[in-house]
Amino acid sequence: MRGRLVAGNWKSNGDLAANQLLLGHLRAAAAGLQGVDCVVCAPYPYLFQIQQLLAGSTLTWGGQDVSQFGAGAYTGAVTAAMLREFGCRYAIVGHSERRSIFGENNAMVAAKFGAALQAGLTPILCVGETLQERESGAMEQVVGAQIDAVVTAAGVAALGKAVVAYEPVWAIGTGKTATPEQAQAAHAFIRSRIAAQDAVVAAELKILYGGSVKAANAAQLFAMPDIDGGLIGGAALVAEEFMAICKAAQRH
Ligand code: 13P
Repeated sequence: MRGRLVAGNWKSNGDLAANQLLLGHLRAAAAGLQGVDCVVCAPYPYLFQIQQLLAGSTLTWGGQDVSQFGAGAYTGAVTAAMLREFGCRYAIVGHSERRSIFGENNAMVAAKFGAALQAGLTPILCVGETLQERESGAMEQVVGAQIDAVVTAAGVAALGKAVVAYEPVWAIGTGKTATPEQAQAAHAFIRSRIAAQDAVVAAELKILYGGSVKAANAAQLFAMPDIDGGLIGGAALVAEEFMAICKAAQRH
C-alpha cells in the first residue's frame, strides 16, 4: 500500500523567532503520528535552524527549489548537495510560482528534478493547470506535458524515487479548493499517464494534492483513492492546522 505524505511549503515566510515556536510545536505533535510522513519545506536560510531543531524528530525537511546545476559559477543558485548538507531529504521542483513568476519551463524543471535525484534527494514534482487552461478543457494536455517532460528526461523509473504534487494554479492561495472529485480525476489521470509507461511505478507513486488544503477539508480530499497526501501552503504556517492535516492523512 502507498504511504501517506504531507509536506508544508512555507514559501517566503518565517523568521527565526516564529520558526522556533512553530518547529517546537510540530516536533512535539508529530511524535504521536503514525502512518504519515510529515515534511517541512522552508526558505534556504532557515534550513540550518530546522536541522538543529528537528534533528532526531519524526519530521523531515526539504528545500522549496533546487539548482539544476552543480557547484560553480551560478550566482544565487543553491545546489542539491548543499541541501543534503543541511539534512534535507526532499526538494520541491516546478512549483507553479517558480514556473509563472520565475519563468521556469518544463525543461528546466526536468533538469532540477534530475539534479535533486542525483544528489539523493526525493523530488516533489509539482504540476497543475491555470484556470484558463482548465476552462478551455486543456487540463490533461498541460499536466500531461509537465509529466512527460520529466519522464522523457529522467526515465519513468526515476518517478519511482519521487513524489508528484497536483496543484491546480486556480486553487493555490485562493481559498478555492478543488473538489475531492476534481482532484481525484486529475490524480487518476496522472497515474494513468505514468502507468502507460510503467504500471508498477504508477501504482507505487505518491501523488499529493495542493491548493487551499485546510484542516477542515483535508479528510475529504485524503479519502479519495488516488490522493496520497497534501502539499500545504498557508495552513503549514499554523502548527495546529498543519498537524490536523497530517493527522487526517494517517492511514487507519
Ligand atoms: P495554499 O495551501 O496556500 O493554497 O498553497 C498551496 C501551495 O502552493 C503549496 O505548494
